[in-house]
Amino acid sequence: MDRIAVALIGAGVIGRIHARNLAARADARLSWVVDVDAARGRELAGAHGARYTTSVDEALADRDVRAVVVGSSTDVHEAHVLACAAAGMAIYCEKPVSDSLEGARRCVDAVRAAGVVAAIGFNRRFDASHREVHDRIAAGEIGPVELLHLVSRSAGSASPADAARAGGLIREKGTHHYDLACWLARSEPVEVYGSGGCLFEPGYAEFGDVDTAVLVLQFVSGARATFSFSRRTAYGFDETLEVFGAKGMLQSLRHRERGVALWQGPRVSESGIHGGWYDRFAPTYVAALAAFFDAVRGGTAMSPDLTDGLRAQAVAEAARESIATGKPVAIETSWN
Ligand SMILES: NC(=O)c1ccc[n+]([C@@H]2O[C@H](COP(=O)([O-])OP(=O)(O)OC[C@H]3O[C@@H](n4cnc5c(N)ncnc54)[C@H](O)[C@@H]3O)[C@@H](O)[C@H]2O)c1
Repeated sequence: MDRIAVALIGAGVIGRIHARNLAARADARLSWVVDVDAARGRELAGAHGARYTTSVDEALADRDVRAVVVGSSTDVHEAHVLACAAAGMAIYCEKPVSDSLEGARRCVDAVRAAGVVAAIGFNRRFDASHREVHDRIAAGEIGPVELLHLVSRSAGSASPADAARAGGLIREKGTHHYDLACWLARSEPVEVYGSGGCLFEPGYAEFGDVDTAVLVLQFVSGARATFSFSRRTAYGFDETLEVFGAKGMLQSLRHRERGVALWQGPRVSESGIHGGWYDRFAPTYVAALAAFFDAVRGGTAMSPDLTDGLRAQAVAEAARESIATGKPVAIETSWN
């Protein structure tokens, strides 16, 4: 099978995950690693027999390269997506699309104009349990969706400065979950109300960020979704969702790390949940990349795509405004 040559921008946490998953594919070849951090970039490129550069343009000028994974810091996604679109590359962009709604819109405009495949890294959609909930809603098992509840509490978080560069809690973590809610509700978001603060790390406030938040999101259909976010737990990476409809309720439950229970006297002690997000969701990064390669090979549309990224970004920006003002905020939908 001919291998699609890929450039990877960003050799950090997510870049290393994508590099490993690309290396495991028979139809892909990691040709370039681009990073402004030479030590990181060189090490990752060396580990996969790829070339290293600090210049996105140099990698994009390689006529063999057909696809780019954008795994750089959120605040430079826009520059990288625009360069990739101009070069006619298929793009897999990590979430969030950008650090602003305008930036995300410019990215979507550029990929639409270029007509390239443009995936967004909403890997949660590829989780087997979340996807089964989606498919059973689509099959009508619980009737029209009325309420959704999504919980995401990280086991621990980056420093306030690093977390801010990633986009802050409401964008960085939130976009995964607004996308899931829209996908499951099968409706467009219209208004969001959020409340958040720094309950355990005042340092986040210096960057206009929060460590704890709750949101209420309203859809055109009338359905409501609630979100419960935290940057730390005392018991592992905690993520669940449930969807309530007229004919029943579907849940994507907590996954235990192992299926072991100790029964002793009047107590039962069971295995806990995964220690971190990667342990819980590792297979979803592989599946999301597989869907991207199917789209690139088949010349078909990717789902989720950058427009899904823009929708989630619109929710995120409205949620940030709501938390700052204490008022519900209408969601900008003129992009659709
Ligand atoms: N889908 C997911 O579940 C998931 C998980 C983690 C991170 N992410 C996203 O991936 C992105 C990166 O996150 P991370 O945790 O890997 O961050 P990171 O800080 O570990 O890595 C980012 C890398 O980008 C590089 N970089 C910054 N500016 C650059 C530029 N101009 N040109 C080239 N390289 C540049 C940095 O040097 C760094 O090596 C973020 O947008 C984040 O939200 C997504």
